[in-house]
Amino acid sequence: MEVVSNKIKDIRTHYLIVLRSKFSAGEAKQLLMTLLVEFSAYSKNEILLYPDKTLSESELLKIHFGVKELLKNKPVQYITGYTDFLDVRLRVDENVLIPRPETEELVEIIRKEWGQAKSVSLRILDIGTGSGAIAIALKKFFPAAAVTGIDISPQAVELARRNAEYNGVKVDFRVSDMLNDGWKGLGSYDIIVSNPPYVREKEKKEMHANVLEYEPAQALFVPDDDALGYYVAIARNAPGILRENGTIYLEINQYLPDETAALFSSFAACEIRKDFKGNSRFLVVRF
Ligand SMILES: C[S@@+](CC[C@H](N)C(=O)[O-])C[C@H]1O[C@@H](n2cnc3c(N)ncnc32)[C@H](O)[C@@H]1O
Repeated sequence: MEVVSNKIKDIRTHYLIVLRSKFSAGEAKQLLMTLLVEFSAYSKNEILLYPDKTLSESELLKIHFGVKELLKNKPVQYITGYTDFLDVRLRVDENVLIPRPETEELVEIIRKEWGQAKSVSLRILDIGTGSGAIAIALKKFFPAAAVTGIDISPQAVELARRNAEYNGVKVDFRVSDMLNDGWKGLGSYDIIVSNPPYVREKEKKEMHANVLEYEPAQALFVPDDDALGYYVAIARNAPGILRENGTIYLEINQYLPDETAALFSSFAACEIRKDFKGNSRFLVVRF
């Protein structure tokens, strides 16, 4: 079946039917709208208000290939090349995890707890920074802070640097391995934040094909028999680089909150917090 014309209404009718073979009606509508806004000259309002406007052949072609990729499980953020994270627009590609809403909550916790310190020259470290989402969102909120982001992936660090530039903020992004000597030469910090890999291999079956086939395994998965290795490294090394009153904010595996918290039992306080879905998702550890 062909699209009957280049009019918005005909394109929408055609590709909604195509997308319904894989997605719910709501998802199909939302995904197609994202592609239309991204690949045409029209805004969402114009698309809704002027169904008789037409798209050029090249715009239609981009939408056609975008739909094809969606049907092959590619996340829409990798198709458009960006995602929004709180007040930050980030470029994303298959070298970095697409930041999740839970991680926005982690940043909100920090913004709330340290809101009075906006003009203070805080020192902040983001471990496993990926696209730079957490580090950049914090730097935007705490303009006087010195923010460092580290990641083992040189491609991720390169993208994070471009994201900082794109958002007009300065963040020190470095390639570093937190499981080895990546802690050397880091300095001292008021805030350490991390969303490290925490999904066990055996939890893969709970994940959607678009995650498994496209997002970087290095960003997500840990061995079943060493699920907490990243947290062990943080618990061991953080005391050496935390300042007085320093705090660690961690995203954690919802199935292992107590086991993860136990690693921080020698710290002054360790609190498990729930995410918006009611899952035990964060640790706030005070030094
Ligand atoms: C769950 S992703 C988080 C990305 C980003 N902070 C976010 O929240 O969207 C974990 C990140 O840790 C990085 N990583 C994995 N092993 C690492 C290591 N040994 N040292 C430093 N970073 C590592 C991955 O490359 C990935 O970018």
